[in-house]
Amino acid sequence: MELPVELRNGIDALLSGFSAEELKKISRQLTDRYKNDSGRGKVLVSRDLESRVYAAVRMPATFGAISDALSYVRECMPETQVRTVLDVGAGSGSGAWAVEEIFSPDHITCLEREESMRSVGNALLRESSELLEKTAWAEFDLEKDPLGKAASSDQPRTADLVLASYMLNEFSKESRENAIRKLWNAAEHILLIVEPGTKEGFAVISQVREILLSQGAHLLAPCPHEGPCRLSDDDWCHFTCRVQRSKMHKLLKEGDVPYEDEKYSYIAFSKEEGEKAEARILRHPYITKGQIDLEICGRDKNGKVTLRKKDEAYKAARKAKMGDAISNISL
Ligand SMILES: C[S@@+](CC[C@H](N)C(=O)[O-])C[C@H]1O[C@@H](n2cnc3c(N)ncnc32)[C@H](O)[C@@H]1O
Repeated sequence: MELPVELRNGIDALLSGFSAEELKKISRQLTDRYKNDSGRGKVLVSRDLESRVYAAVRMPATFGAISDALSYVRECMPETQVRTVLDVGAGSGSGAWAVEEIFSPDHITCLEREESMRSVGNALLRESSELLEKTAWAEFDLEKDPLGKAASSDQPRTADLVLASYMLNEFSKESRENAIRKLWNAAEHILLIVEPGTKEGFAVISQVREILLSQGAHLLAPCPHEGPCRLSDDDWCHFTCRVQRSKMHKLLKEGDVPYEDEKYSYIAFSKEEGEKAEARILRHPYITKGQIDLEICGRDKNGKVTLRKKDEAYKAARKAKMGDAISNISL
């Protein structure tokens, strides 16, 4: 997956004039902070240069993960029109860029607590399409400010699609519960939560799953069922997307490979029932001559399947990747 060219150029422009050493130092500090201080309700990025570096280092990966997850959501609700979007904890705006590519809504609103993030996000959108240029940004704290129909404000506080990516893991478990309910109340149709594809990220997704199922929400993806998750306690459901890296990204992350593999976990719910996958591929398909081994989460059970050329699902499985839905599989 490639970042939109305007976004890539915008990020480069944001960093011009700063020394490579200073940028690398901040990049390392941010990595340490996200590793050690998430989940404690702490502010992790607040200074202007930190937000610029966040955009350069993390936006390609979060853009890739959100785009992937949105494509899976669209598969489950092919007829649903997404006209309005609220991106909560929008950071530097990767959600808006991803949503524009997948759903082309009429209006996007980015809600974000930190001024430096809003200003970087706004600067990046200035060079983009007409839709993104008119994206509204507002100061907003999910812990304190009202969201949903109850919010009295001239800014939209409900939307067809509500998105929160890589944000809920920054909350403590206790304050997260209220945040999840607020996000769900703000969604007219769909709520999408994306988190890092780590054990901790998946714990957030599991918490969202439990709370919203108990509220009668309809699970869209990735799970093909609404029963208890069948993964063992030491496993976590995550997927991967590959994003091309720019020269700047390689410099800041001090790496040589021309791409980055971002592991992410996600969950999407809707107010109306959607078309859930019949089964979903949980690991990279293992392809040998005339045979494909898949690990599957199905409607009634999980398991391993071996497909051969004679099998109906073989052709689709040859093109499928981890995270994709697949049909005509018997477990
Ligand atoms: C890791 S960044 C993710 C940004 C963006 N969603 C993305 O996927 O790239 C988390 C963002 O959530 C914001 N945030 C954290 N807690 C928040 C809160 N209580 N209300 C609003 N935004 C919050 C942070 O300021 C930060 O910009």
